[in-house]
Amino acid sequence: MAKDVWVSDVHDGTFDGQEIELKGWVHRTRGSNKIWFLVLRDSTGIVQCVIKRNDVGDECFENLKSALIEASVTITGKVNVDERAPGGHEMVVTGGQIIGAVNADNPFPITESAMEGAEGGETEFLLDNRHLYLRTNRMTTMLKIRSSVFGAIHSYFRDLDFIEYHAPNFVAGAVEGGSTLFEVPYFGRKAYLTQSWQLYAEAAMPALERLYTIAPSFRAEKSRTRRHLTEFWHAEMEIAWGGNADVMEHGESLVRNIASTLLDERSDELQSLGRDLDLVARYADTPYPRIRYDEAIETLQGMGVDIEWGQDLDYSKEKILTQDFDVPHFLTHYPRIAKPFYHRPDPDDPKYVLCHDLLAPEGYGEIIGGGERTWSEKEILERIDEEGTPRDAYEFYIDVRRYGGVPHGGFGLGVDRVCSWLAGADHIREVIPFPRDSRRVTP
Ligand code: 4AD
Ligand code: MG
Repeated sequence: MAKDVWVSDVHDGTFDGQEIELKGWVHRTRGSNKIWFLVLRDSTGIVQCVIKRNDVGDECFENLKSALIEASVTITGKVNVDERAPGGHEMVVTGGQIIGAVNADNPFPITESAMEGAEGGETEFLLDNRHLYLRTNRMTTMLKIRSSVFGAIHSYFRDLDFIEYHAPNFVAGAVEGGSTLFEVPYFGRKAYLTQSWQLYAEAAMPALERLYTIAPSFRAEKSRTRRHLTEFWHAEMEIAWGGNADVMEHGESLVRNIASTLLDERSDELQSLGRDLDLVARYADTPYPRIRYDEAIETLQGMGVDIEWGQDLDYSKEKILTQDFDVPHFLTHYPRIAKPFYHRPDPDDPKYVLCHDLLAPEGYGEIIGGGERTWSEKEILERIDEEGTPRDAYEFYIDVRRYGGVPHGGFGLGVDRVCSWLAGADHIREVIPFPRDSRRVTP
């Protein structure tokens, strides 16, 4: 029978004085030959179970006492209010059994302090044992926060009648430049893993007008940083009849919405990670300023940073720039030479493109990249040729512009980066179950 009672219900007071059955895993144990304390964990929390030899009999007592850390068990008992117990309640055990044993020759390899949620430690060891590390307090907390972030993104777009739309993951060409393309053998030809859903979403502008997705994107990022994965989750949107300012408004509303959803749904989790809730509330409530790329370059140069006009900002530069931001800031109007062909040149000054990046504070840097698209056939051919990109892979993209093209734009938000920033994580790999980088495809 499926499980219908959770540890969180016990601490809610739902079952005070009642006899119930709990299903979970052994988190910690201690005791003597007469009384045994088994702390049981499930996905909602922990509860102390008190097992007395006199109450349960010799056979049951010895059996439960032999359950090692992370063995799975079912435990029946009476729920008692006990201020001193973790969570405020404990179980006085009447029976129970081991379901999935752990063998004493091969004990659970992750230490108690890591299980309780301690950071750091033996990073490579924990990455090698990621499948087991998933059940630590820190990881389950991160994954609950992540789930709420995904939920908030779906709700934001669906409440506004956006259509969820899907693009292929095998593609013939780059969106974000050739250097980070993953090549895949494809029946005697070359295909690539997609870097972004965008070009295929643009093709559907005349069909559906308001689109979004949350899907994996792939980048062959050789450098391993705190914010790069080779496979990351990408929330993207595209709207017809909209320009750079409209798209930025959606980006700002979405990110503020995610922050306020986390405050509603995950305050306890954020606090358990040591996150300052006032900070998250500020990200939900305070407007995000917009500054032009040129201003940002001047600021950085004024700080003595070695950067020239025309360069895109890499992580090291963004980190310096955003260290003292109090809320996320939009950087707009990057130089045309710094951005891919699809960005629309500014009609007022075609040295620049109508684009934006949203940079998160506290040194986290870029979480959104977006802007207005080059939507006329003539301009897109110019931009593709100017970049020196072969036209073949983009024939469909050019063709869409031959039949009723309209102004449109959109953005891509790195979901893992947003989770990492809002949770205050040290590293992007903390917020995804099985992180992928240039050195790791296992487990
Ligand atoms: O700025 P990017 O490269 O923009 C695009 O892909 C556009 N085609 C999106 C669009 O307009 N529809 O990527 C968008 C966001 C970045 O701001 C970043 O948050 C995230 O995707 N991102 C990554 N996240 C984790 N690991 C990586 N290697 C990432 N590369 C980009
Ligand atoms: Mg970008």
